[in-house]
Amino acid sequence: MFRGTADLSGLVRRARLYVTAHGIYEFFINGHRVGDAELTPGFTSYESRLQVQSFDVTDLLVAGENVLAAVLSGGWIGWTPRYRNMHVGLLAQLEVQGFNGSLNRYGTGSDWFYAGGPIKCANLMRGQVVDLRDVRLDWCDPDIDLADWAPVRTATDVDFSRMCGPVAPPVRRIEEVSPVTVSRPYPDRQIVDLGQNINGWIRLSNLGPAGNTLTLTHGEALDTDDDLTIDHIADGAVERGEPFQRDQVTSAGRMGDSFEPRHTTHGFRYVRVEGHPDDLRSGEVRGVVVHTDLRRTGWFECSDDRLNRLHDAIVWSFRGNACDIPTDCPTRERAGWTGDWQIFIPTAAFLYDVAGFSTKWLRDLAADQREEGEVWYCAPNHEAAPFHPLGSAGWGDAAVIVPWEVYQAYGDRDLVAQQWDSMAAWVHYAQRKARQQPDSPRESAREPLSPHEPHIWNTGFHFGEWLEPDMLSKSSGSGDIESHMATLHTADHSSLATAYLYRSTKLLANMARVVGRADEGSRYDEYAASVKAAWQAEFMRPDGLLKPDTQATYVRSLAFDLVPGAARAQVAERLVDLIRKADTHLDTGFLATADLLPVLADAGHVDVAYELLLQDAEPSWLAMINRGGTTVWEHWSGLDEEGRPNAPKGVGSLNHYSKGAVASFLHRYVAGIRPNQDFPGYRHFTIKPCPGGGLVSASATHDSPYGRIESKWYVDGDRFTAEVVIPPGTSADVVLPGAEPECLTSGSYRLSTRNPATRQVGGR
Ligand code: BGC
Repeated sequence: MFRGTADLSGLVRRARLYVTAHGIYEFFINGHRVGDAELTPGFTSYESRLQVQSFDVTDLLVAGENVLAAVLSGGWIGWTPRYRNMHVGLLAQLEVQGFNGSLNRYGTGSDWFYAGGPIKCANLMRGQVVDLRDVRLDWCDPDIDLADWAPVRTATDVDFSRMCGPVAPPVRRIEEVSPVTVSRPYPDRQIVDLGQNINGWIRLSNLGPAGNTLTLTHGEALDTDDDLTIDHIADGAVERGEPFQRDQVTSAGRMGDSFEPRHTTHGFRYVRVEGHPDDLRSGEVRGVVVHTDLRRTGWFECSDDRLNRLHDAIVWSFRGNACDIPTDCPTRERAGWTGDWQIFIPTAAFLYDVAGFSTKWLRDLAADQREEGEVWYCAPNHEAAPFHPLGSAGWGDAAVIVPWEVYQAYGDRDLVAQQWDSMAAWVHYAQRKARQQPDSPRESAREPLSPHEPHIWNTGFHFGEWLEPDMLSKSSGSGDIESHMATLHTADHSSLATAYLYRSTKLLANMARVVGRADEGSRYDEYAASVKAAWQAEFMRPDGLLKPDTQATYVRSLAFDLVPGAARAQVAERLVDLIRKADTHLDTGFLATADLLPVLADAGHVDVAYELLLQDAEPSWLAMINRGGTTVWEHWSGLDEEGRPNAPKGVGSLNHYSKGAVASFLHRYVAGIRPNQDFPGYRHFTIKPCPGGGLVSASATHDSPYGRIESKWYVDGDRFTAEVVIPPGTSADVVLPGAEPECLTSGSYRLSTRNPATRQVGGR
């Protein structure tokens, strides 16, 4: 706890407070908490960027002495190996304008004091320990005895050049959830079930008698004994004897006290409460949902409730992973994995306004990027040293794909210009890696090298398609994730990596033209054409099959436009064959799953796309929902049919949004709202619903930068009716099943055709 004072002589006309910290701060003026942002100053690449929040505090000040105070904890810096040795510190400046035109500044300095408080330890991964007996109710009173407060140590080496203003909305407490049950499976423990996997914390109002210590462990699943299990997410913490997502609170026995740990955050649906003498009542525990306060911009609904539940789970997964940075999961790693965000951003940008959120993240990505152009796996990078060589295809490509997607969703050219150096550096890095001699013993390392070899990216470390169903059992390692990772150093990922080299170069060429670099655009286009030709020469077999002959390869080749037009139909047929061979199941992992259903639909196999969407045997999206998933899982196997962790097949985290990118199929194909890449920000777009799967209605709404877009359709007997809203200043190509496309300008329309399901011959 820190405190200082500001002695104000006259009346305050206007006052602003600027604050930042190493660690997490909460600021108080005269005992009132300043603002409602949580986990401030947020997570950035601290050596280069430290966010400073500013608040209007005019109403909190009084004439005379004011107490400025703060609670500070380790927070983001205590958790990350990169910053583990950084000292916590607070920097604040209050600027007060008087009615007489005066401007006075007060701030943290050598006249401030600090003391220990009720928070004994706070860590974003491990949890928070609080002893409420150490709360000093008078800590913000002007005249307290400072005998047990010590003068602060002032830093002399503050680098002000890295201070920056936030461009994303703050993290806030967004919503509260009441438990659906509180049970006591064993005498010494109670289990609170929120019924929903969330990111945040709980607020507990019954803490037991003074001196009573409660231990609250947060997790996503129950074991077969109905007790909480964190084995699948704790990453060995339990074995190492370390706490994981565990808060502890010691009661002061004071009326009105409650516990709400605002210096940590957890991913959880269940909380195990140990040490409580009473049976907790549901009203005494609340789940507090915490994430970046993003504006909701997208909705979807249809006549099949299973899909509505899947869509809800996807929205919750994003909410669970949008706490200041886009994370892979809010539990095991809580890290800004690049691959995960490039996969999910199109979906996220439909559902929420993620413009500022992504801009902040991209600045961190660029700040941490190595001189050679390599991108760290996570942004901000939290590791002290990479645990594998950096630069995996599909992950590092986030440097290019994320700005492109933000530009598509919001039309923000400035962002493209700002990220230019970072994007180009990544593409140049990948080009250099392609030009290097192939690694041995890859399949393609053969003599003599073919002329297209310099355009094949067959060097370096790649995660590959990652987490296909049964990835571990198919791996040449011994079936666990560590030995699988070891095999990645020699695995041949050249088909995938070259596909991403093509994709990123092509997008860079497009963006070059957006920011007035047309000549560079042409050069990148030429380079991309050579990569495409090389890919075709290397990975298209004479019999029409692709290398490797996996679903993911066919999906990627179609989605990235790698195969010649004439071969597309055959490639799509092979994809369908593979799906049928797998008994109409997907076999894709992280990178290709998002594109699977769209490429099927585009190639005329909407029926197969719907069969996969509605498949409910593992691996499938509906298996997750049927087995009790309220968020999307990392592994297709997550929970078993009894809803318990599927340890033999791989559980992973139960809140990983990447596979939830299937929601884009619901938005863009089922309901039919599709952006047009030549008219970013939805200035011109397409409405093209794809009915199927027995649905009788579907609708989606998106608040674009121009206003609300709506697409709703329903079938009634032999009529297919679409209701469409096109916002002012925009136009849309409207393509209804079996009808001629028409271009409509802003307005609300009801259009009707023959129901495709009953139509014998096409026509309106
Ligand atoms: C993370 C992923 C990430 C991956 C890289 C995992 O541990 O949870 O989401 O993209 O590693 O392969």
